[in-house]
Amino acid sequence: MSGHELVTVERRDAVAVVRVNRPEKLNALNRETIAALECAFAELRDEDAVRGVIVTGTGEKAFVAGADIAELARMDPLSGVEVSRQGQRVLLDIERFPKPVVAAVNGYALGGGCELALACHLRIAGENARFGLPEVSLGIIPGYGGTVRLARIVGLGRALAMILTGDTIDANEAHRIGLVNAVAPKAELLPRAEELLQRILKNGPVAVRLAIHAVHRALETSTEDALSFESHLFGLLASTTDMQEGMRAFLDKRTPAFQGR
Ligand code: COA
Repeated sequence: MSGHELVTVERRDAVAVVRVNRPEKLNALNRETIAALECAFAELRDEDAVRGVIVTGTGEKAFVAGADIAELARMDPLSGVEVSRQGQRVLLDIERFPKPVVAAVNGYALGGGCELALACHLRIAGENARFGLPEVSLGIIPGYGGTVRLARIVGLGRALAMILTGDTIDANEAHRIGLVNAVAPKAELLPRAEELLQRILKNGPVAVRLAIHAVHRALETSTEDALSFESHLFGLLASTTDMQEGMRAFLDKRTPAFQGR
């Protein structure tokens, strides 16, 4: 251990703020930090009181400046596969997390940091954020899902341009190409992320959870299977008290009180 927690979790009522906490190395993800991130999400998954998560980095400068290059420099082919699989697994857990996850990108989001942001359901960038996948400049390729997720979010041409040049882009350009959902002044980044989450948390929790599931599933299967899956989830929601409540509240002209079942 490095003497301090590599990932911290702060609970603010229904929202948990997960911080990658290695500011002296610009929050670079070494194996220990990735493992700590995995533990944090595993804990939050089972906490009913936590209904949404914000992921950010400690400090003024970086969200996450990538996988730890000092560690990567020592890899051989087998450990390289392992490092990549570990990061992919943790980021897939985040993508499939049953509660909404928003990345609040407070500075550099490079390499594994950009991939971490891509695995979150939504992204808000601070004005000082910079995004990029500079792996080819180190003689490697993105290994935590960047070659898979970036094109899905910004389109093939833009993804290839970023991955092949390794160029970084600023927050406004990231917003223009759809890599982030919004840009916020530095001081307002966390409040804006929290506000976005609160808007989601007003909705039926089971519906939000199944919507995340359906959208991701649709990317991985045929149109026909995805539509069938959507119909089944749609029908399943008719079994929830939340559906009764949501529709009754609309008809009664009041705010629904969802219970998550
Ligand atoms: N892995 C390991 N250490 C990293 C790191 C990374 N991805 N990114 C930053 N650090 C470390 C630096 O080595 C430095 O450590 P030191 O103080 O012990 O020398 C410390 O974090 C501060 O970084 P520094 O480079 O001095 O800050 P800067 O403001 O001059 O530059 C960056 C900031 C982000 C432009 C630069 O750190 C950088 O290019 N990082 C690597 C980005 C990258 O290629 N990521 C993809 C990895 S696959």
